[in-house]
Amino acid sequence: MPFTQPARIAPSLLAADFARLGEEVKNVVAAGADWIHFDVMDNHYVPNLTMGPMVCEALRPHTDAPIDVHLMVEPVDAIIPQFAKAGANIITFHPEASRHPDRTLSLIKEHGCLAGLVFNPATSLEWMDYVMDKLDVVLLMSVNPGFGGQKFIPGTLPKLAQARRKIDAWINNGGQRIALEVDGGVNTSNISAIRAAGADTFVAGSAIFGQPDYKTVIDAMRAEIAKAESISA
Ligand code: DX5
Ligand code: ZN
Repeated sequence: MPFTQPARIAPSLLAADFARLGEEVKNVVAAGADWIHFDVMDNHYVPNLTMGPMVCEALRPHTDAPIDVHLMVEPVDAIIPQFAKAGANIITFHPEASRHPDRTLSLIKEHGCLAGLVFNPATSLEWMDYVMDKLDVVLLMSVNPGFGGQKFIPGTLPKLAQARRKIDAWINNGGQRIALEVDGGVNTSNISAIRAAGADTFVAGSAIFGQPDYKTVIDAMRAEIAKAESISA
């Protein structure tokens, strides 16, 4: 399979030291991170509570890297302008948490951010089909959302390949680029298979922040990604 989009590493702050978030962001970007993945949990859509727009705003001056806000909240719309104002660059949400996913995608774009849908392990990719023109990102969850440190669900691999086919068909017909992101249980042992299945953007929390040297992990991830690319080239 040809790899038309370069691989991006998006460390998830969920596994960072919350008492030193600014420093963690700087360190992980210096170690080679491409995006900062920012998990927003509301204790309603998912049974956990994390950070909101105020934390995003506080982190914004600490980096130029894109902040990739993953909303695990219900309802969705009211928080979008707040995150855009707080400096978010990418905002993704779970379509079943929004009454009107098409409207929510437009709202994100109207506020100047890239927009995307997130698919839980049991959520059908059919949600994509009617909003392809509004998508900048498709994010496949490879764990059930709510917690870091879970095990990668292997059924995500064929689902990634299916999403890749939909996106490639869209682009080949003149459509815009759409990133294919994966989130949950990604590590140096499985990232090569995930790349081979078609992902181009890799969220990793515990695999990166759980190690003392972030650069060593990110370099190892890139080396594993390169292996998948050389096999398929
Ligand atoms: C789970 C979050 C993920 C998670 C990834 O709901 O969306 O971003 O933090 O963490 P790891 O890489 O530890 O599975
Ligand atoms: Zn996430």
